[in-house]
Amino acid sequence: MSDAEVLFQITTDHLDTGLRGYPVGYCRTSKVDPYKGVSYVGYPITELARKEPIDIVHLMFFRELPTDEQRASLEADLRARRGIPADVLNTLSGLNRDGHPMAWLGTGLQLLGLSTRTGDWMEDALNLVARTPELVAAIFRVHSGLGAPIAPSSDKGLIEDFVHMLGIPGADEDKLAALLKVFYVLHVDHGGGNLSTFTGKAVASGHADIFTCMSAAMGALSGPLHGGANQACLEQLREVGTTDVDEVEAYVRNRLANKDKVFGFGHGVLRAEDPRATIQYELGKELCPDDEIFQTALAMRAAAVKVLSENPKISNPHPNVDAVSGSLLQAGGLSDANYYTNLFGLARITGIAAQIVDERVHARGGKGVPIYRPKYIAKDQAPRG
Ligand code: MLT
Repeated sequence: MSDAEVLFQITTDHLDTGLRGYPVGYCRTSKVDPYKGVSYVGYPITELARKEPIDIVHLMFFRELPTDEQRASLEADLRARRGIPADVLNTLSGLNRDGHPMAWLGTGLQLLGLSTRTGDWMEDALNLVARTPELVAAIFRVHSGLGAPIAPSSDKGLIEDFVHMLGIPGADEDKLAALLKVFYVLHVDHGGGNLSTFTGKAVASGHADIFTCMSAAMGALSGPLHGGANQACLEQLREVGTTDVDEVEAYVRNRLANKDKVFGFGHGVLRAEDPRATIQYELGKELCPDDEIFQTALAMRAAAVKVLSENPKISNPHPNVDAVSGSLLQAGGLSDANYYTNLFGLARITGIAAQIVDERVHARGGKGVPIYRPKYIAKDQAPRG
């Protein structure tokens, strides 16, 4: 027996519970405290929310906030890495437009890998961070039928450039960029065990290239119990159709009576309101206080917490990151909820890529974490029927 610290005693009660709470490794980019929420490299998210996205990219990959010089250098580096090969962009236009934009993102990442992978974890990770804004914007334009992709500009910041490449007619680009910068920072990372990050690292442990890992990670993100929840939340808010708290309460009770999920509330780790939600409620009060859907989100915050708290089996009745993000995005000019999870993915790719680099290049004294191989207990293996 080694003298390793016992972190968790596994009993048969823990089997088939989705690895909930099992310690499996170290995470050096972020930590999720059940009551305080996420911190990135020791900085609470509340301190980082209004920082420039490029600063958070630096924090993820280099474990420190950049000096002015470091920021300028990373900005120049990412700018030089931009550019998606024409064959990738051309292939997008042949994809099925009935398919979800997250399926397009998974496909686009694979295509990007086919054309541009180098095989060096850090190089490919930074290339991904630099090129994904153009890919996500191109998917938005081609999938929605808005028009051909728009090339990156020469002098804009990461998110300002992304907004430019979205090219939404009539959009207030400054307002949208201000909103998406906060959205990006809030969604970059959430500990080591969230499903998309875990999936990306698991695939990377078999030494698949990072584009393949990220494509798998985006598949994991796409489901409505993970990143797909921001789309589900906005659709739910539209269905509520009232800003009256009593009527919203009746809506929530009705959903529960029908055994429907109340999207945007609860979390696998958090046991209080997600500070990423709190930050967005405050942002909404600044940017779109009178917007009806945002008002509905505020009414949901009051009503759903009240109703869900009545059930002692619900360990966290509070809003999570997805509860309000869609209401801000639609108020900012992005009204089609089909694209919301791609925006989550755009941000989360940075955190996942940084964690993959960490596990592949730095962990275990540079040897890297071995291929994932958890144990399953054999049971009921007689032929069915
Ligand atoms: C996330 O940001 O990934 C979600 O809150 C889900 C999670 O942390 O498990």
